Amino acid sequence: MFNKDSKIYVAGHTGLLGSALVKVLNEDGYENIITKSHQELELTDKLAVENFFKEGEIDFIFLCAGKVGGIIGNKTKPASYLHENLLIQDNIFEMANKYEVKNLIFYGSSCTYPKVCQQPMKEEYWLTGAIEETSMGYAAAKIAGIIGCKSYNTQYGTNRFICVVPNSIYGVNDNFDLENSHVFSALIRKIDTAKEEEQESLTLWGSGNPRREFIYSEDVASASIFLMKNSNKLENSHYNLGSGTDYSIKELAEAISKVVGYKGKIEWDVEKPDGTMKKLLDSSRFLALGWKPKVKFEDGLKTTYQWYKENYE
Ligand SMILES: NC(=O)c1ccc[n+]([C@@H]2O[C@H](COP(=O)([O-])OP(=O)(O)OC[C@H]3O[C@@H](n4cnc5c(N)ncnc54)[C@H](OP(=O)(O)O)[C@@H]3O)[C@@H](O)[C@H]2O)c1
Repeated sequence: MFNKDSKIYVAGHTGLLGSALVKVLNEDGYENIITKSHQELELTDKLAVENFFKEGEIDFIFLCAGKVGGIIGNKTKPASYLHENLLIQDNIFEMANKYEVKNLIFYGSSCTYPKVCQQPMKEEYWLTGAIEETSMGYAAAKIAGIIGCKSYNTQYGTNRFICVVPNSIYGVNDNFDLENSHVFSALIRKIDTAKEEEQESLTLWGSGNPRREFIYSEDVASASIFLMKNSNKLENSHYNLGSGTDYSIKELAEAISKVVGYKGKIEWDVEKPDGTMKKLLDSSRFLALGWKPKVKFEDGLKTTYQWYKENYE
């Protein structure tokens, strides 16, 4: 059972999702949370990971560690995204199984769904078509992770490995570096810079027409805790997790401009790639378990922007 005194390892606790998990677990009264920074524990190092598990007697794992980035990073370094993510998840899966961790949550990605896919995307559409080229290395590792969870459960006759596929996560502690950030944080930084520099206009990548679904990091954290508590009710397959609403990149830019107070004109460089035009998850299987997201898009955006202003610059 997932109890207040269970020994819980949050891998990747300094990141966007990991930090939200530590916050929500603390707020909910979980007292035995284990964290190790990247410097303290290199998760691609199998021996180091085994030594950590040997000492740890860990009950539950939220596997939030991974190499995560935006379109530029994924396009230019696909081998690194593939290699590092495969190593991290393989080392943790193997040790979680060997040292009989009660449950582990792995986070897949919506980029593992076909580039051209019926919307909203149901779990059964997974692997029914070719995936988006620009994130192939990362997506291949995530596909291996999703299959990995199912395989460990099947081979060892358990339901210990839980796999959730969240749509684009946003929130505090996100990466605002322009090379490695996702669209949400990248637009916050670009629009805020345009405001600070009093730019009359700002040109953004693509047509602005692709639609994306965003979910606040603390909602993903609370959904993950819910899954741990209800692991006995889960099927051996991944669960989609989204907010249920998607926005065009244009709408996102307008919403951010409003919060930031940027009054300049936004122009679109249609020569730059758009990527997949729509990525809305059908999360009805997850919602049917009895959980729902709480954080409104406008509130999550304001909190994220405030954090950016206070911490990032
Ligand atoms: N962000 C999204 O929109 C999204 C959507 C769907 C799924 N996911 C998945 O959710 C998980 C968390 O994503 P996130 O956005 O929270 O990522 P993030 O903010 O980039 O955080 C990643 C965490 O992993 C740590 N890490 C990276 N490589 C490591 C290594 N080799 N050894 C030890 N620690 C390492 C990082 O530490 P350092 O920073 O110190 O390296 C950081 O704490 C990932 O598996 C991601 O694929 C994310």
